[in-house]
Amino acid sequence: MECPEELDMNKARKLIIAGNWKMNKTVAEALVLVQDLKLELANVNEVDIVVCPPFTALSEVAIALRGSNIRLGAQDMSEHKPGAYTSEIAAEMLKELSVRYVILGHSERRQYQKESDEVVSKKARAAHAASLQPIICVGETLAEREAGQTEKILETQVLGSLAGLNNGQMVQTIIAYEPVWAIGTGKTATTDQAQEAHAFIRALLVKLYDDATAWSVRIQYGGSVRPSNALELMSQPDVDGALVGGASLEAQSFADIVKNSI
Ligand code: PGA
Repeated sequence: MECPEELDMNKARKLIIAGNWKMNKTVAEALVLVQDLKLELANVNEVDIVVCPPFTALSEVAIALRGSNIRLGAQDMSEHKPGAYTSEIAAEMLKELSVRYVILGHSERRQYQKESDEVVSKKARAAHAASLQPIICVGETLAEREAGQTEKILETQVLGSLAGLNNGQMVQTIIAYEPVWAIGTGKTATTDQAQEAHAFIRALLVKLYDDATAWSVRIQYGGSVRPSNALELMSQPDVDGALVGGASLEAQSFADIVKNSI
């Protein structure tokens, strides 16, 4: 599908590359990593750079990132307002720590915590209510791809996870296409597979939202992104960034992914 000429959004979307540290890094380790990233990436302004440490390191990392070009994200949050929800973290609490982005519906949470599209959509609305920008993850398993169900799964997840978001909120939402079979496996989707899935998601957005909104939403690719494959992936017209797991745990490889993408 071609972007309407008057919008020409394919060139206008700024890349956003986020590191999902998952359950890694003590506070001390996190601080070493961000100090190195600040040095490596100090002059990069062409890309929105985000790190998503575990909750325990957010506060200290927020202080370390002050005045830098690296933004802070969290890996999850509660759909509820503050209250009696033992162990949960509310959007307001993240906001206080200068968190700007929050990953929602990562496949590991969908798999291990049985997080549904409905819960993801509630979290997305709660994130927007606190002016946080959700990074909403979708993606098919290998069995689903092999059964020819990729588009059906993506459609269900996109429609379910974005339910209730208006145009204004959608512009401030990022989607991460992460084929489950490519996460942490070293198997990256081919550029054609990635572009095809991203274009399909874009087409869904065009059906759901006004044109300016649908074409301005950034869609990240995630799943074994490395310095060596970053540029090829980012060169696809509908790939607007990356959500990086394993390769974001070392400053050099994450910085190289960012630099190689430009
Ligand atoms: P990976 O993880 O880069 O280690 O494959 C990506 C993700 O889960 O976001």
